[in-house]
Amino acid sequence: MRNICVVGTGYVGLVTGACFADLGNRVTCLDINQEKIDRLNQGIMPIYEPGLEELVERNVKAGRLVFTTEHAVALEDAAFVFICVGTPSGVDGEADLRYVREVAESIADIVNHPIVIINKSTVPVGTGDWVADVIRKRRGDNDLQFWVVSNPEFLREGAAISDFMSPDRVVLGSLDQEAANKVAQLYLSLRCPIVVTDLRTAEMIKYASNAFLATRISFINEIANICEELGADVREVATGMGYDKRIGRAFLDAGLGWGGSCFPKDVKALAHMAVLHGTHPQLLQAVMDINRNQRRRVVMKLRRALDTLDDKVIGILGLSFKPNTDDIREAPALEIIHLLQNEGAAVRAYDPAAMEVASAELRNVTLCEDPYQVAEGADALLLATEWNEFKHLDFERIHQVMRRPIIMDGRNLWNREWLTFLGFTYFGVGQGIYVNE
Ligand code: UDX
Repeated sequence: MRNICVVGTGYVGLVTGACFADLGNRVTCLDINQEKIDRLNQGIMPIYEPGLEELVERNVKAGRLVFTTEHAVALEDAAFVFICVGTPSGVDGEADLRYVREVAESIADIVNHPIVIINKSTVPVGTGDWVADVIRKRRGDNDLQFWVVSNPEFLREGAAISDFMSPDRVVLGSLDQEAANKVAQLYLSLRCPIVVTDLRTAEMIKYASNAFLATRISFINEIANICEELGADVREVATGMGYDKRIGRAFLDAGLGWGGSCFPKDVKALAHMAVLHGTHPQLLQAVMDINRNQRRRVVMKLRRALDTLDDKVIGILGLSFKPNTDDIREAPALEIIHLLQNEGAAVRAYDPAAMEVASAELRNVTLCEDPYQVAEGADALLLATEWNEFKHLDFERIHQVMRRPIIMDGRNLWNREWLTFLGFTYFGVGQGIYVNE
């Protein structure tokens, strides 16, 4: 049994703490947000993550998982402390490390026993060295024995628990081999490859991985836009590409592009690091530009289909940035709604999980209780997030309640032939219509 403190109970921290507890460790999750901790102690999750509530409940009952706001309680007998706090985008994209600094300083103020400090939050390259400096400066004397290890997370929202329990790899970065081995011990039962390298390289692996995944998506979206003009079908292009083992099929789904709390922040931060150090991140800049343009393009397609968006009613299905999460951060739907409203359109919307968070963020949007209410009187229906429950809607009923039968399938979820047969004017993404000249 090892004592682990996890600081931060967001998407990364809460899943990390609960999973380490499930592996048999004694875990204390620490957060400065009293309400969040109170709700967790009542068994109420702060996030929508499939399987998390049951995992937390089981481990709290077993006495392996506790929640507190008390730093001393959380750190007093911790052999490991995982920093899982937010690193939001600051001015022009650099990561804001104020919360990481606060954790490092509280460790320096409280801890008087040997401890391994693990950066799991996505932090700029060089942050591991910086954390050590913050602690040394704060501590003054050098009597605290500590090590800093980088252990970036590769958790996808909506699949975070399975991504933790069955990782493709664990990455550890440290200047001290023994410290890296101590952290590696925590992951041994997962029986996955463990990459051990230095701090900066581990931090870079995280950024490069996310930036590459984002690049794949912007690549296939650019191919999709070309397909629309040349009459090819990007879905089949991705399939044909994917059989090449060097390419693979994953992350080649054309659509409205990427959102969430990671890709936008991490690609921007990596580009910012590059610029700060005198290199021009041309490809990363293009990846971000293509992604931003994908949202504008769908608004242009709606405008073209309706002649004008002024006074039109547009129904939006899906507000979260992807299915199986209530997270709307940087979700394409939010920017698309603002663009539509700027052109005088009225918007109706529904999401299976994100209605509560979206209602706090959206203005002048008619929030509906189901997809059919969204379609009522709509001149066009846009699918923004490919939730399973949208896969087999009663399209005859939708056709009856819409003012115009125009479907904009932003995630290529639906069947063009079937909807065309039902009398809809169907637009997908990258589904160029091959018209034999
Ligand atoms: C991502 C990384 O996958 C994960 O490893 C990292 O730790 C955190 O960031 P996440 O942002 O939760 O995870 O979601 P992900 O499933 O990667 O999707 C990111 C975005 O890309 C979503 O908006 C999704 O809609 C979009 N996407 C994904 C596409 O547009 N096309 C694809 O083929 C795949």
